[in-house]
Amino acid sequence: MTASTPVALDPFGADIPAESARLRALGPVVPVELPGGIPAWAPTRYDTLKTLIMDSRVSKDPRKHWSLFPEIGEHPSWGWILGWVGVINMLSTYGPDHTRLRKLVAPSFTARRTESMRTRVEEITAELLSAMEASGASGEPVDLKAGFAYPLPMRVICELFGVPDHLVGDTGRLIAAIMDTSDPSPEHAEFVLEQIGSVLGRLIAYKTERPGDDMTTELIKVRDEEGDRLSDEELLHTLLLVIGAGYETTVNLIGNGVVALLSHPDQLAAVRSGETGWDEVIEEVLRVHPSIATLPLRFAVTDITVDGVTIPAGDAIVTTYAAAGLDPAHYGEDSTEFNAARGTDDHLAFGIGVHRCIGAPLARMEAMTALPALFERFPDLELAAKPEELRQVPSFIALGWQEIPVRLGG
Ligand code: HEM
Repeated sequence: MTASTPVALDPFGADIPAESARLRALGPVVPVELPGGIPAWAPTRYDTLKTLIMDSRVSKDPRKHWSLFPEIGEHPSWGWILGWVGVINMLSTYGPDHTRLRKLVAPSFTARRTESMRTRVEEITAELLSAMEASGASGEPVDLKAGFAYPLPMRVICELFGVPDHLVGDTGRLIAAIMDTSDPSPEHAEFVLEQIGSVLGRLIAYKTERPGDDMTTELIKVRDEEGDRLSDEELLHTLLLVIGAGYETTVNLIGNGVVALLSHPDQLAAVRSGETGWDEVIEEVLRVHPSIATLPLRFAVTDITVDGVTIPAGDAIVTTYAAAGLDPAHYGEDSTEFNAARGTDDHLAFGIGVHRCIGAPLARMEAMTALPALFERFPDLELAAKPEELRQVPSFIALGWQEIPVRLGG
């Protein structure tokens, strides 16, 4: 196989590290096919990815800069990508539109604003740990994802956005469907597009009738003010992005952290004794197991040559955080090994540049609360399955476990 033959990415993301290594062996930027046969370029090295993300000739606006955008409707198996590029929010805009949409939300997630949520995060953590303790009292395995890693970030983001209990289940199913890239059927794509309008539409209607001290109410006010700061469609899609990104990624950060530590008892002992910091554990989890492995899509505004490969204007590029974090040229020959003592401080798991993650302080604070509290409450916590038996979520985008069966011990 040569670098000019597109490589189909595994729609299930079953072994993202091995796939990254195979692509890296083909070159610094490799033509790939996303599920359903959508063509794109994949940077395979840390430096190459960083150069492309920071290049102002790389856009995130499909409407302006993707030559195949007008053709999506002609390919029934491409419809799933509309959940990512058919929505208008800061993740899919470029230049002044991006700046405008980002400014509406970013100030609510600064380190200082995040710090004010810490007490509430600690309370929810304690409640969930007590509920798990009660359910695991018999010694039978429990699913740590369902009981802890999932509901903690979900409850935090739903409180911030005032999502009422009756919409939480539908919101969770919608985000799971957007992340599931294993089914490129038109029915799946239709379900996602219909649910975006329906679930978030119901949230907006609910908060319009019952305004509160929450971010959905604030964004509705911005839409209703004079001026063009936020359209109806942008409001809907901004809520989709911030609520979805706000919990789904952090669920996997917590879950991936738990599994990494339980499969490396020596490192768990080092963090328990204080030899390694929890912050070091979390940064290393983000490097080796980034919650967003590969993100669709960026676009070349002009022909761009990077590391000797020319990406033609109008072509799509995937943002390959997992490949960058595992690059041996940047992290050494043992780059695929989880080693919290490595002192990682430059991973790209939260992105970099103008689109860098606005929720990084919140995600870190939730993980810094959740992981120490979990291991303190359950000193004998152990996996109830072999690490190789755990199943990755069906996605080339998200990196995380479907279930995490554990015994709580004691
Ligand atoms: C472990 C947790 C998280 C990870 C790994 C993560 C990862 C990322 C990455 C890689 C990007 C950059 C996308 C790009 O370059 O195109 C990003 C952007 C973003 N993240 Fe996060 N994220 C996490 C948590 C959160 C949380 C908690 C929130 C919500 C508050 C959030 C909201 C966003 C938003 C709104 C953007 C878009 C920023 C822009 O395009 O200007 N993320 N995130």
